[in-house]
Amino acid sequence: MTQNTTIGVIGSGAMGAGIAQVAAMAGHKVILHDNNVHALDKARKNMLATLQKLQAKGKIASADEILDNIQFAEKQQIMCDCGLIIEAIVENLDVKKAVFARVENMVSDTCILATNTSSLSVTSIAAACRIPSRVMGLHFFNPAPLMALVEVVPAIQTKPELVPMAAELMKAWGKTPVVAKDTPGFIVNRVARPFYGEAIRIMEEGIADLATIDWAMTEIGGFRMGPFTLTDYIGHDVNYVVTETVFQSFFYDPRYRPSFSQKRLLEAGWLGRKAGRGFYDYAEGAESPTPDRDEEKGRKIAERIIVMLINEAVDALHLGVASAADLETAMTKGVNYPKGLLAWCDEWGSGKCLSLLDALYNEYHEDRYRASALLRKQAMGNKKFV
Ligand SMILES: NC(=O)c1ccc[n+]([C@@H]2O[C@H](COP(=O)([O-])OP(=O)(O)OC[C@H]3O[C@@H](n4cnc5c(N)ncnc54)[C@H](O)[C@@H]3O)[C@@H](O)[C@H]2O)c1
Repeated sequence: MTQNTTIGVIGSGAMGAGIAQVAAMAGHKVILHDNNVHALDKARKNMLATLQKLQAKGKIASADEILDNIQFAEKQQIMCDCGLIIEAIVENLDVKKAVFARVENMVSDTCILATNTSSLSVTSIAAACRIPSRVMGLHFFNPAPLMALVEVVPAIQTKPELVPMAAELMKAWGKTPVVAKDTPGFIVNRVARPFYGEAIRIMEEGIADLATIDWAMTEIGGFRMGPFTLTDYIGHDVNYVVTETVFQSFFYDPRYRPSFSQKRLLEAGWLGRKAGRGFYDYAEGAESPTPDRDEEKGRKIAERIIVMLINEAVDALHLGVASAADLETAMTKGVNYPKGLLAWCDEWGSGKCLSLLDALYNEYHEDRYRASALLRKQAMGNKKFV
């Protein structure tokens, strides 16, 4: 694939429009297709505004030149000469399968087909195609033009040579690719689950309130945002659904069990910042709760959540979801963690991490707190990951 390859993007929503912009800025001709003309219109307007801002800041030479590279198309047939098509439509397996099967009959046999799915099996999408070996996942993060990480996800049918080819292309687009096994949540959406789930659990148990947990994770943990501020920002419709999908896809492993606290927010329509109410109240004049800045309590909270994250990363390594280097890159570039979780484990020592987890397991007798076999092995050998 070269800069002359025409890129097709299906779906001009938040992700599709962002991906189209990235490809056009990298010099490709892009065809952005959506079956909703209003969505296409909105994408064009938003992109023009964004590109004009970049031009005013001197970050690009000409907004018009980049926009000229993109054809906004209501008709799918126009994508017949594309060398790569990235699908970013609604997160529904049946709809995605139908779109892939239809698109495949329009393009040449050498065209690569990629899905931006966050939570569906790439393998099952590939299975709907005549040539499953050309199908793969290219998982961008929101907003695609700003977030560096792209998870490259081969389905079990994907031709192995497509993986380095896609990774090179992502680098040419200024992105940082990592390779993830086709398992639920890939890397980031799997490993990050305890950041939300364990924080909610601590709040539900009454150990600390929202503001104190957020304070502990930012001030002591070093994260940019606390879990409640962040989920309010992401939106509970998005964050809860990812949690529920990951839980179901892992055959109901209790480690990923969603919480009633977050489900109730969703049911009430308290979707977060965008709804004016989530865990916190964003109404005008609403008071921001003050954290209880108890250092000892804060340290315990941060430690408990971080060790759960470390365990998830170690287990992902143990099960071959990604290499150690890619796990570290994914969590620092995809969700801006202050450091890689494996490096964090090395810093604390695998023995200490194991003791923290075993103490939680002994206290609760819940499978949720089981330590990864690899963490136990590391602790026994006193080994380091990175
Ligand atoms: N939003 C995120 O944070 C995020 C991050 C990474 C990946 N994703 C994934 O990216 C995909 C798109 O998400 P989004 O947030 O951009 O969704 P969105 O709802 O903003 O946009 C989806 C677009 O697809 C169009 N569409 C739906 N069915 C279509 C069809 N059959 N043919 C052509 N166009 C069709 C819709 O009109 C809409 O404009 C999903 O698979 C999602 O899981 C989302």
